[in-house]
Amino acid sequence: MEPVLQNNTLLSLAEEVQQAAAIECSADRSASSHFRLLGLLDRLRLAVESPTETVRRLIYQPPQNAALRTVIDLEVFPLLTQHPKKGMSATQLAEDTGAERALVVRLMRVMEGLGLCACAEPEVYLPTDKTIAFTQPIGRDGVPCLYDLAVPTLVQLPAYFREHHYLMPKEYSRSPMRWAVGQSQFEWLAQRKHQQALFNSYMSSRRHGKPSWFDVYPVERLVQDAEDHDGAAFLVDVGGNQGHDLIRFREKYPDVKGRFILQDLPQVVESASVGEDIDAMAYSFLDPQPVKGARAYYFRAIFHDWPDYICHRILQNTVSALRPGYSRIIIVDCVLPDTNTPLAQSSLDIQMMSIGSGVERSECQWRELLGAAGLEIQGIWSASPEMDCVIEAVPKSV
Ligand SMILES: C[S@@+](CC[C@H](N)C(=O)[O-])C[C@H]1O[C@@H](n2cnc3c(N)ncnc32)[C@H](O)[C@@H]1O
Repeated sequence: MEPVLQNNTLLSLAEEVQQAAAIECSADRSASSHFRLLGLLDRLRLAVESPTETVRRLIYQPPQNAALRTVIDLEVFPLLTQHPKKGMSATQLAEDTGAERALVVRLMRVMEGLGLCACAEPEVYLPTDKTIAFTQPIGRDGVPCLYDLAVPTLVQLPAYFREHHYLMPKEYSRSPMRWAVGQSQFEWLAQRKHQQALFNSYMSSRRHGKPSWFDVYPVERLVQDAEDHDGAAFLVDVGGNQGHDLIRFREKYPDVKGRFILQDLPQVVESASVGEDIDAMAYSFLDPQPVKGARAYYFRAIFHDWPDYICHRILQNTVSALRPGYSRIIIVDCVLPDTNTPLAQSSLDIQMMSIGSGVERSECQWRELLGAAGLEIQGIWSASPEMDCVIEAVPKSV
């Protein structure tokens, strides 16, 4: 028999959940109170689950992801959202998707278990409040994008480590993905137009509903004393993909003067539609930065893609463009805490390691990385430990 539950732990956790839920439903709700409630729910579940139930829950995650990926291919969720009241039967879904009815039933059982649809009656499926997110870019494009990009490598990861004597991958060109499928992430994407489009769409959508970097970072630090003529470069979004962050910044701060520049690889900027007040520029950050003396060079989710030696090269290419005493580097990425690392961040770390020998870094690792490029951190801002931090760095004062 499994060990008996610690009643006191369970009851006091349940009480904490109740209090946190009351905050979630009140005007005091914030990013950090929201994540605290989610963390408590995880702990509550673990407290209720027997150890073997925990084992089984983890063992059966891969088939859930595969079923979800298949349901996205079949475009089941957009069909469900067209029938919010009556729902759709397995027979109707089979007719509309071309899948065998019995297969639809088996896949939709999993979707119901994940809360992505509800069953009004046997074999009749209704959308839930989650379904809509799987018809929008974040789910519709994010699920197949990350599944196809990462899962074939993740399946092989244990074999990779066995063969590589459990050494951490340190070179981009010798990443686990390169070993497992022949290419690391950006070459793989560059050769697959459809997957690149899914990736771009997911990048643009994945932070909807979350605070932007400029909601967390005091933007006056950049606006104050910035050169205010139109020719002066104000913000360069390096590796900015479709320019979504710049577009949002312009929406919030339409009066800030100067040039706004989006940089990314040629095949990525060619599909960006950023409007007239943002310049799109094909540029590889592995080369020296051509825009000199901007107020800020902004890197969001860039350094976590790469091992240290490539980050060092990107930083050096940027440092050479900084105007001393004026320019700043703004980095938005995870800053891993020393304990209690949120599972989303530690999982992303394994994913980045797999697809390009990338790294999610702790504060100490950031200080070392930036210090080696002659930079020092002036401040780190964050809305909550579960969210990306904003790091401001400038050349070290001598
Ligand atoms: C994880 S995405 C982050 C995109 C965007 N900054 C964001 O946070 O949504 C990394 C970006 O780096 C770009 N990238 C990869 N290699 C690059 C290079 N050598 N030079 C410029 N951009 C590059 C990719 O095309 C992609 O848009």
